[in-house]
Amino acid sequence: MNAFAYRNGALHAEEVALADVAAGVGTPFYCYATAALVDRYRDFADALGQLPARICYALKANANLAVVRTLAEAGAGADVVSEGELRRALAAGVAPSDVVFSGVGKTRDELAFALEAGIGQFNVESRPELALLHEVAAAAGRTAPVALRVNPDIDAGTHDKIATGRRGDKFGIDFADAPDAYRTGAALDGIDMVGLAVHIGSQLTSLAPFRAAFRRVVELARALAAEGRAVRRLDFGGGLGIPYDAERPPGPAEYAAMIREVTAGLDCALVLEPGRALVGPAGVMVTRVLYVKDSATRRFVIVDGAMNDLLRPALYQAYHGIVPVVEPPAGAARALVDVVGPVCETGDGFARARPLPPVAAGDLLAIEGAGAYGAVMASGYNGRPLVPEVLVKGGEYAVVRPRPDHATLLAQDRMPHWLQQPRMRRARGESR
Ligand code: LLP
Repeated sequence: MNAFAYRNGALHAEEVALADVAAGVGTPFYCYATAALVDRYRDFADALGQLPARICYALKANANLAVVRTLAEAGAGADVVSEGELRRALAAGVAPSDVVFSGVGKTRDELAFALEAGIGQFNVESRPELALLHEVAAAAGRTAPVALRVNPDIDAGTHDKIATGRRGDKFGIDFADAPDAYRTGAALDGIDMVGLAVHIGSQLTSLAPFRAAFRRVVELARALAAEGRAVRRLDFGGGLGIPYDAERPPGPAEYAAMIREVTAGLDCALVLEPGRALVGPAGVMVTRVLYVKDSATRRFVIVDGAMNDLLRPALYQAYHGIVPVVEPPAGAARALVDVVGPVCETGDGFARARPLPPVAAGDLLAIEGAGAYGAVMASGYNGRPLVPEVLVKGGEYAVVRPRPDHATLLAQDRMPHWLQQPRMRRARGESR
């Protein structure tokens, strides 16, 4: 089921017309569909079937509390990369034991906080991190469950900026050093080595790199078991891609079948950390056309959303589908337009030379596939308040993060004492 579809000529999220949300909350806004979130989670969980696998949703894709709670209620655990995300997972109702803490640069305070919370797994990426975690755990009189994240030296074949499993990438411990690092961890009393972890990148559109990486990890697990170190858990990370444009990534069923094949005969619990595959297609960003401007060579559709709201096109040259909220007549002529935002950078835009049906100032456009790495990567650049987030369920919608008002944003900054008087009064030599 596609949660975003035209009904009577108007684009809906489930049973809610996006134009009604726009009238209620203003534009731009993010809109997520509960049915899509839950369906995507169930597809993933059903595909894994009898595999002893835990799905720990990667919060970095979309950390809104309502989104995380929706997935947690469907059964998801959480993969987090900071104290902030850990607090979000816990606040959303994820059990601490269902939380995996990933990331190459966890601080001492973050490790201590996560230990205190009693999380289920630390994915450790280096020897110094292992030593620090041991120190923190020993001081707290606790034992940290650790999976060693290895770097399998596999190219995920995705965008360079989101490939993480090549030898030169900062992630994971060198594959050659992994067995010895594992032994080192096993000898530390603050550490309980529970397994191995790997994550080779994001938006993968082929199974082959996953298979190659997982095979390496399985081999390593077998080698460690052969020397009497049982590896109880394998964490295969996230990374499964979604169709943004013409790409046709494998679905959860093919992905799960490959995992079944690679882990056959192995007595290990599994952890998976999908982010994008669960939430990407479950969200759109709705934006309003401000102006249509014709230059000598191009037509610019200038919208009120911008790169600070949805960074993926500017940062990765990522493709996102763009559809009008009012359904165009069948066979409507399409013209090539550039869909751009108001930010003062040439890179600020969502599409170049995109065939769109006629659009006019005031029209609403929905940018698809915006449920993952959209709102979470937004900034206040150009003095633009963060875009609000809306969650739909059936015929209802709720604002799950409001648009901040300008007064609140101004009040976040502080004047040092030497600037506290407004410039005009200082110039006139007035005292306070
Ligand atoms: N686990 C780890 C350790 C990760 O680093 C990531 C993503 C995931 C899981 C989830 O990956 P997913 O299933 O979502 O592919 N901002 C980029 C994506 C960065 C992904 C970073 N790590 C984008 O917009 O494409």
